Amino acid sequence: MRTHRIGILSGDYIGPEIIAEAVKVNEVVAEKFGHRCDLEYLEASGQAYDKYGEHLPKHTLDRASQCDALLKGPFGGPPEELNHPKWANVEKGAILPLRKHFNLYTNLRETRVLPALEDLSPIKADIVRGVNLLIVRELTSGIYFGPKTSRVINGERESSDLEVYRESEIRRIALKAFAYAKTRRNKVTLVAKSNVLTSSVLWREVTLEVAAEHPEVEFDYLHVDNAAMQLVLNPRQFDVILTNNMFGDILSDEASVLSGSIGLFPSASLGDLPFGLYEPIHGSAPSIAGKNLANPISAILSVALMWRYSFDSDEAARAIEEAVSAVLTKGYRTLDLAGAGDQDRPTVGTKEMGDLIVNALREEK
Ligand code: IPM
Ligand code: MG
Repeated sequence: MRTHRIGILSGDYIGPEIIAEAVKVNEVVAEKFGHRCDLEYLEASGQAYDKYGEHLPKHTLDRASQCDALLKGPFGGPPEELNHPKWANVEKGAILPLRKHFNLYTNLRETRVLPALEDLSPIKADIVRGVNLLIVRELTSGIYFGPKTSRVINGERESSDLEVYRESEIRRIALKAFAYAKTRRNKVTLVAKSNVLTSSVLWREVTLEVAAEHPEVEFDYLHVDNAAMQLVLNPRQFDVILTNNMFGDILSDEASVLSGSIGLFPSASLGDLPFGLYEPIHGSAPSIAGKNLANPISAILSVALMWRYSFDSDEAARAIEEAVSAVLTKGYRTLDLAGAGDQDRPTVGTKEMGDLIVNALREEK
């Protein structure tokens, strides 16, 4: 029997509620496919700050390093407390260091529009029908991590952030994007801003070299402003979108709402496999925390990605994805999904949605 050690970083506000449902689903899937999972709950973000005055204590990183994969809930606090030191430094104190420490340079964010949810999209159903795109975002370099300055010059404040990429950093993620495209619809679109930014010119040159090594994959290029527009006008044209850290941050939020709710989507952050970090792409939603209202699907689908990429079991991943899809197709909706025209559909809470998915998983052959 294979054993996997999973580090759990439950996160803030709705984090622990949705991660609890994901853990329930993980137990069932492990049993179903004959694996064993040992869970380690690790202290980070708000919880760690209250206890130790830091968001990512060394003992958490040390224990996380012993794990095969990390399952993470959203980190962060309510908008009215954003200047409180407990929340002001979550990004720089925990989220970015986690990515850097584990060299998680590949961030995968997939958007699919399920037939059952077409009407939830803010975009017309004819446009979003069948959308299935994967954003491959560079996650450990670029403007997020480049040199920063702040100074006073001629009596006024001035600040800068530098976008720096090395050829090797672009090549390694471009290679991933082409490899993923081969398992999908064989198309890669590079998104950058090569008409203005020198770093984007390098992205384009290096990616063209990689494209030449993979002639069976269709390759095209869009400037980021046009890509933002195309995501709304004609999102079906995309299969794999390859892009840098900053553009990937923005475009992945935009892409996620094509499906109607950001509450549905997981992400995988990968470096040297099989280790990976899996988490919802949405935030900690303080306003609905503790009320059994949050949608646990993004956390549950994060577990699916963990089985696919870290535990090398595409069948376990697919079993979870099919269970989620079956429950949504039957019409069950959490609050975020109960859009207009859905009044007669049942609305379920966080725990009930978790239970429905567990039952659907047990019923699958
Ligand atoms: C994301 C988030 C993070 C990012 C923040 C919280 C640092 O927006 O994962 O997309 O910008 O990468
Ligand atoms: Mg973001």
